[in-house]
Amino acid sequence: MSLITPRYFLAPMAGYTDGAFRILCKEYGCQYTTTEFVSAEAVTRGGDKTFRLAKVFSEERPASIQIFGSEPAKMAQAAHILEKQCDAIDINFGCPAPKVTRSLGGAALLDYPEKIKAILEETVSTCTKPVTAKMRLGVKNKNNAVKIAQLIEKSGASRLTVHGRTLEQGYTGNADWQVIAAIKKELTIPVIGNGNVKDWESAKAMFEQTNVDGIAIGRSALGNPSIFQALINEKDIPVSLEEKIAMFLRYVELRKTLKLWESHGDVKAHALQFIRGFPDAAALRLKISQAKSVEEIVDALPNFP
Ligand SMILES: Cc1cc2nc3c(=O)[nH]c(=O)nc-3n(C[C@H](O)[C@H](O)[C@H](O)COP(=O)(O)O)c2cc1C
Repeated sequence: MSLITPRYFLAPMAGYTDGAFRILCKEYGCQYTTTEFVSAEAVTRGGDKTFRLAKVFSEERPASIQIFGSEPAKMAQAAHILEKQCDAIDINFGCPAPKVTRSLGGAALLDYPEKIKAILEETVSTCTKPVTAKMRLGVKNKNNAVKIAQLIEKSGASRLTVHGRTLEQGYTGNADWQVIAAIKKELTIPVIGNGNVKDWESAKAMFEQTNVDGIAIGRSALGNPSIFQALINEKDIPVSLEEKIAMFLRYVELRKTLKLWESHGDVKAHALQFIRGFPDAAALRLKISQAKSVEEIVDALPNFP
């Protein structure tokens, strides 16, 4: 089955890229979304919360569901359970969180190429939808990054997103675009670059320096979904607090429409992102942090005529 590869992707971010935020990004021009990662083990056990996290809404298609785990059979089974409701299954070879790497999931698998191969081969042969992957450059060093990317392609992945940092780097330091470029050069499947893209200027630089087919935006989309508009229009435009609050209120409205009411903590986390960087944000941040419901969060925001 063919898989479309547009230029601009929202990178999955656990705790942030819920359905409402993904659709909000689509409204600003994002062309492809992925759910936050869900545990393959939990999917096969049938946990309600896991299925809520993995839910893809019709308004956001094309979209992928991302899974993590370390057991090929479990990964394949989970992918098969979920594939009906999305356009592709994405496999996580990049998460650095100890709760994931301890059981050899996420980025820990970069030290076990045979496991990566087995997971992909079994999942690809079980699924009717395309299977894609997202990797980091390595655990401690980047020496094997190109080899691992080639293995991922050979094992049947239809597309590869490369986050240009090692597991050890976590989210700090610069993403290494040179290694992303080296990977892109060796692969025939589409390669999506990720890391350190924060506006159109940096996206343009990544395209020029790496020749990637598309770019995945992570943290720079938080509180700033209009980054996708800047990318599409190839022009960075400053966004006012008033505009940011309007975007946040649209996010709240989408959550309501999609019936995503289980946690006001998620809404609060988003509200704090939308006010980041503005003068007087400290007082506003305090008010939002003390709010005990979505209504109180909305009431804490300044009114614009
Ligand atoms: C809070 C948070 C949660 C994340 N959760 C996921 C996840 O579920 N799956 C995944 O592949 N990457 C996850 N990532 C990594 C991002 O997708 C992305 O690779 C990383 O943030 C680098 O891109 P950026 O520099 O544009 O933020 C997460 C990152 C953050 C900050």
